[in-house]
Amino acid sequence: MGELRGYRVGNQWRVRGRDWLEYTGALTGPRVFVVANAKGGAGKSTFATNLAVLRAGEGKRVLLLDLDPQGHLATLLNMPVDPDRTTVQLLNEELRLPRTAPGHRDRWHTLWTDLLQRVPGADEHEALSRLLLVPAHNDLADLERANFHRTKPTEYALREALEALVGLGVEIDEIWIDTPPNLGPLTRNALMAAHYVVSPFAKSDLGLDGLERLMVLVEQYLEFNPYLHVAGLVMNYGNPRTIMHNEIRETIKGRTSLAPFLLESYVSEAERFNQAPRLGVPLVLAEPNSSSAQELRRVLQEVEARVQ
Ligand SMILES: Nc1ncnc2c1ncn2[C@@H]1O[C@H](COP(=O)(O)OP(=O)(O)OP(=O)(O)O)[C@@H](O)[C@H]1O
Ligand SMILES: [Mg+2]
Repeated sequence: MGELRGYRVGNQWRVRGRDWLEYTGALTGPRVFVVANAKGGAGKSTFATNLAVLRAGEGKRVLLLDLDPQGHLATLLNMPVDPDRTTVQLLNEELRLPRTAPGHRDRWHTLWTDLLQRVPGADEHEALSRLLLVPAHNDLADLERANFHRTKPTEYALREALEALVGLGVEIDEIWIDTPPNLGPLTRNALMAAHYVVSPFAKSDLGLDGLERLMVLVEQYLEFNPYLHVAGLVMNYGNPRTIMHNEIRETIKGRTSLAPFLLESYVSEAERFNQAPRLGVPLVLAEPNSSSAQELRRVLQEVEARVQ
């Protein structure tokens, strides 16, 4: 690991993205998936939760990180949120100490130990015993608005936190990150820290618009983060009996920037998703034999096939 060169802008200290990555090297250890789409309501939180739970059901030790100030993951997992134990603390500027600073590792150890939380329901559903959550809090929105991490590039805060986690030897096989419906600093942090992005999109033109913007961002980030791959664009609210479903799929297949990433599998519009917060556990556990759970399993299989 060489010297990290920086440059000053006014009274701020900056580091170029590429330099930072070369300094830190590839993120080893757990595979990191981010679920993103700039559009609201595309199904990000639904997918992040259910896909992570399915992975835990396969025997993987999975960490779910909520980077959306709305904090829907805790709701979907029926988990009370302690405002002092959230991704706000994870991204907090105070921890941006140089790696060589005394106590750096201990501070991360203390923080991660405090933040990694078990979710309720493990007695009834074994999969949940292998799932950890760091929930979000509304204060994330303030963190996003404030110019946080003034001494390092904003986009690298989460990546650094995950490197610290790996360095602590915590046994986690996979990390799934939920993001807010925009392409601001929180989503950028997730994309910079991730290996794979999964992007559900709603069956509508607006959904496509969001995808276009996401693809532009992914292209930008591939320049910084050569470890990021698009694992799949997944249609949500699908219904192959409708003209729109088929038209949207054909449109995507006609766009060279999007076509290679479109998954054959999709998730149909289903009323049961709206009951999800009341189910107490994610849909794939509450109704494992439902058509929606089957569709989500197919999505995961296709994602898995693409990331190997
Ligand atoms: N296939 C579906 N059929 C019907 N309802 C769905 C489907 N997928 C998700 N929903 C519902 O739509 C709403 C939005 O889904 P979700 O919260 O997963 O989207 P999101 O992209 O995370 O939204 P936000 O951008 O606000 O974070 C939720 O009430 C969810 O239960
Ligand atoms: Mg959400």
